[in-house]
Formats: sequence, structure tokens, C-alpha cells
Amino acid sequence: MKSIETFEEYKTAYQKSIDQPEEFWAEVAEDFTWQKKWDNVLKWDFDGPNVSWFDGAQVNLSENCIDRHLGTRANQVAIIWEPNDPNEPFKTLTYAQLHDQVCRFANVLKNLGVKKGDRVCIYLPMILEGAIAMLACARIGAVHSVVFAGFSAQSLSDRINDAECTLLLTADIVYRGDKKIELKKIVDEALLKTRCIKNVVVYNHRNSPINMQQGRDLWWSKLMADASNICPAVPIEAEDPLFILYTSGSTGKPKGVLHTTAGYMVYIGYTFKNVFNYQDGEVFCCTADIGWVTGHSYLVYAPLLNGATTIMFEGVPTFPDHGRFWDLIDKHKVNIFYTAPTAIRSLQAKGSDIFANKNLSSLRVLGSVGEPINEEAWHWYHENVGKKNCDIVDTWWQTETGGILISPIANVTPMKPAFASFPLPGVQLALMDDKGNEIQGNDVEGNLCLKFPWPGMARSVYGDHPRFKTTYFSTYKGYYFTGDGCKRDSDGYYRITGRVDDVINVSGHRIGTGELEDAIDEHGYVIESAVVGYPHDIKGQGIYAFVICDRHLDSHEQLQKEIREHVAKVVGPFARPDKIQIVPALPKTRSGKIMRRILRKIAENDISNLGDTTTLIDPSVVDKILAGRLATT
Ligand code: WTA
Repeated sequence: MKSIETFEEYKTAYQKSIDQPEEFWAEVAEDFTWQKKWDNVLKWDFDGPNVSWFDGAQVNLSENCIDRHLGTRANQVAIIWEPNDPNEPFKTLTYAQLHDQVCRFANVLKNLGVKKGDRVCIYLPMILEGAIAMLACARIGAVHSVVFAGFSAQSLSDRINDAECTLLLTADIVYRGDKKIELKKIVDEALLKTRCIKNVVVYNHRNSPINMQQGRDLWWSKLMADASNICPAVPIEAEDPLFILYTSGSTGKPKGVLHTTAGYMVYIGYTFKNVFNYQDGEVFCCTADIGWVTGHSYLVYAPLLNGATTIMFEGVPTFPDHGRFWDLIDKHKVNIFYTAPTAIRSLQAKGSDIFANKNLSSLRVLGSVGEPINEEAWHWYHENVGKKNCDIVDTWWQTETGGILISPIANVTPMKPAFASFPLPGVQLALMDDKGNEIQGNDVEGNLCLKFPWPGMARSVYGDHPRFKTTYFSTYKGYYFTGDGCKRDSDGYYRITGRVDDVINVSGHRIGTGELEDAIDEHGYVIESAVVGYPHDIKGQGIYAFVICDRHLDSHEQLQKEIREHVAKVVGPFARPDKIQIVPALPKTRSGKIMRRILRKIAENDISNLGDTTTLIDPSVVDKILAGRLATT
């Protein structure tokens, strides 16, 4: 694939993508293998919304990720698996071995009755089988729904039920750092609340004794041994669904964001090559979990589309010590390293001594994703990890966008610390003011929207297209609204300022406050709660819950502990509130709406001017809450 090598080339490519979007993307698409070419490049309206790319084409993502490379790189390593415990051997799969495994597993799926369009839930840790399973689904046109292995039984069953998955893939247990996660046990609990799962395929990862339900639960290795390794890639229609990935919004239960095949493939393949300035033969390491979109797009699919060697790291950055990332880079001679600001900040807090005996000279490009990167962390990353020799690409995007939309292009875009910089080719941004008008000119700030489709965009919310429309296309008619605030500085550089809705971003995990409140309210003593985010040095945002309790308690400690554990159980351990303040009431307007603006200011310790409180039913509530405020700084 041809790549952008100079800033002038970027500008030319960008201009062409605006003036002639169809010609631009058709040209990019030529670099992939199509079983049948398209009739139309793009058909769209943001009213429906209805968007289709490469309509009429047939293509197989797994063929493009694997088979296409067999002629030239069959024996090149496709995936390196680095275990949680560095003393255990790492594993590799060459493109030929990956092909064998994916074909076999695709046959396993078929033998279990999985057909094109059926949903398969993947609840696996960071092991090779996760990638194999995703690619096998893509090979036969089954739709995968990967659920992050840190989610609770409740969250898992909700997701299985929503997508009506018929097959579930999991493992016995996994260790992350020194923490054991009993996946199969969680699965057993989740399946008490689901009816649609016919079989569970279990990968024996740690040889841990587990319960296997006869007739339902099957061993991965046995099925693989019995399956043929011949499985031609099925022709998939361009707009056939590829995967569902659940994400939190400001209201209600998580949404199953639906991505389709051809546009997604073209978009992530193109952005990977360009954003990271990927060169043939390089080793790419993305530290995201396959349970999140970054893991889907830039750990599994896009590197393989480009014939790269991609690393899958099972562990955590602080185990066995806080030098683990740097050991991993040294050991596997990583050229491009892509991680989240929260990880950078947590390692930064531990000091720079750890770098003394690490050789990081293989690094060429560094990436950041998931939340705004503050300038201090940016400089620390640039100096200590990149030794001032590596460009940092601060990539802004979302589960819904499929791939990166705003980012510097490595070695091309002049860097500005903490700025995601410029839109990639094909990306038409708009900043909107409060009245719904597009803000023109530079040195401005507004709500970030997209005014033209890009191939990687989500097409719907699974099973609920009206929700897709109300969530993303109704705030500003004719625009996709991201939920993020954004500045455009005097040089035209973009800087994301964070969510403007009720979504909080904790260590790069998107959590809807409504979801947390629902979980907290389930506690028998709780009448009502309101959750807001506050700035947190390491996690980006922390979770602050204001809770009304139905009885007097001499000490709140036990209740706080129970609420924390309950949230961990219902949503997942990463969603535990940091601060829980028991309050006599919540600040409500006459229409019964909680005034979150005030709670946010209290949580942020920005209490000198709380703004207008006269519309509250009882303004004295604010003083009572302030009196019991918990320290957050
Ligand atoms: C935030 C992750 C600032 C943003 C790929 C977005 C960022 C949400 C950045 C999507 C960045 C992601 N700078 N903020 N470089 N990248 N975000 O769906 O608020 O898990 O809306 O996708 O993360 O999170 P999601």
C-alpha cells in the first residue's frame, strides 16, 4: 500500500478525499483482495441514517489478513504472544500457522452449527485463541461479539442476550499480574441468565480444574484436533455485519455498536499504514485488550492486513515490576508501540530509574489512544521512552468510528504535544456551537461532529437502529455527533478536551454514569444516586458517587464497601467508584432533573463558584453536600 511520506502529500491526499471521496477510497480499496468488485463506492444519508460503502462487492477480511500474505510471508511471524509471567516462554504463530489455526477453528464453528450471520460471543483473555476466533468468525461470516474478560457475569449475560449469541468461547482461568480471573466460573454464572447459548468452547489455558457441563461445554483442543484445516474464505457481502462491540453511552444499557465488513477493512488497513508510517517487516505492539475496539482494529485486524508482526501481551504494565513494557520492547525489538495515557502516567509516577538497563533503540514510532494525553505525560513518553527520536501519534477515535479519525501522521505531521492534530484523509470534521451551528475559523472550541461518512464508521446499534439515530444523528441534524468537546487552535490543530455527555473515561474505559447509578441503586439501602467524574492523576478520571441512603448509619464504611463490591459484580472491577459520599438529598430542579453540573464541580473541588442554584427545589441541599465532601485532590 502506498503511504503518505510528506506533509505536502498529506494535504494533497486530504484535499482529494474531500473533492472526490469516491475516487479516493476506490483507489485505496484497490490494494485489497476482492472476490467481487463493488457496484457503488458510497451511498449515504445521515437522516436514516443509511451508509453503505463498496456496495455490491464481496470480500473476506480473514482472507485479506492471512491468505493474501501466504505467497510472500508464510514463514514470517504474524503474532507474538507474550505471557503474563515473563519467565514462561513466549509463543509465535507464522502466517502459515495462523492460516492453519484459523481454518481449523472456522471448521469447528461450522461443525457446531454456526452459520453466516450467527453471533458468537468471545469471552477470552489475551491469548492467541482470541485472535484466531475473531478471524475464524470473519472467515465464515459469523458475527463476533467480544466481551472484555474483565466484565462481570451480569455484564456478560446482558451482552449475550442482547445479541442472541448461540456460541460462547472462553478459557478456564487467567492470571493478569498476580490476580487470578476465573473465567469459566463467571461464564457458568452468566449462563444461568441466558437461554440462547447452545455450546461453550473452553480453551484449557492454565490446566485449572473447572466445571464442564456435559452436552454444553466442549474442549477447544479436542474440537481443533478433529477439524480439517481446509476452509476456503466465504464470499462476504460488503455490508454484511462483521462484529458487534458493546460500549457505554450517557443513557441506558450499553449499546451493541455494529460494524460491517468492506468499509471497515479498507479504513483500518489504510489508517494503520499511514498513521504509524508502518514499514514492511516491522514489529508492532498495541497494549490494548482485544475486548476493546483498539484491540480489534489495531492489535488484530489492521496489522495483519498490512502483513505486520503484531504482539499480544497477556499481562499488565506493572508485573512483575513497572519495567515490563520496556522489557517487552527490548525482548521483541518492537518498532511501533501503541498504548494509553493512563498506563504512561502510572509508569511515569514510578520514576525513570527503570530505564537504566533497557534497550529501547528499536522504537521508531509511539502511539497514544483512549483519552486525552496531558502535556507532562506526552513529554515523559517522548523523552524517556522515545529518547526524543520517535514521533508520537496521539490518535483520537471511538468504538463507533472503527478506526483512527484524528491523528498526526508519524514522521510527516509537525508534532504539537497533546494535540491529536489533523483529520486523516476522508475525515470531515465540524465543531458545533450551542445553537447547532458549525463554528468557522480557528482558535475556537465546540462539540465535535463529522459531516461526511468515512468507510470505517459504525452502521447501526445491533437490533435497535432508532437508537443509533437518536444517539448519534439527532443532536445536530445531518451530522454524526461524537460526544466529545474539541478545540481548534490558531494553527488549525485539533485538541480533544473530553466527553461533553454523561460518559466518564476511567483509565481509558468508557463508562456511562447511568449504568453505574443503576448498579448502585440496586443496593437495598440506596434510594437514589448520582455519579460524576473528576480529574484523577493516573486514571484520567475517577468515579465520584453521591448516594442517598434510606436509614441512619453510624459509620458509612461498610455501606461504601458493599456498594463498591456490588458495582464490581454488576459492571466489572474496573468500574468500582473511587469516592462514595452519602448525602441527605441530591440537587434537583423543579422538573426533577439532577443538576449534575453542581455535583461535578463539587467532585472536582471547584467550589468557589457553583453557578446559579436558584432553579433548585431546595438550594440548601448544596451546602449539606459540601459539608460532607470527600477529598479528591
Ligand atoms: C476518548 C477508544 C482524547 C474520547 C479508541 C472518545 C480520546 C472515547 C482519544 C472513545 C485521544 C479516545 N484523545 N480522547 N487520543 N482517544 N478518546 O470507544 O472521549 O473506548 O470519545 O474508543 O475515548 O472511547 P472508545
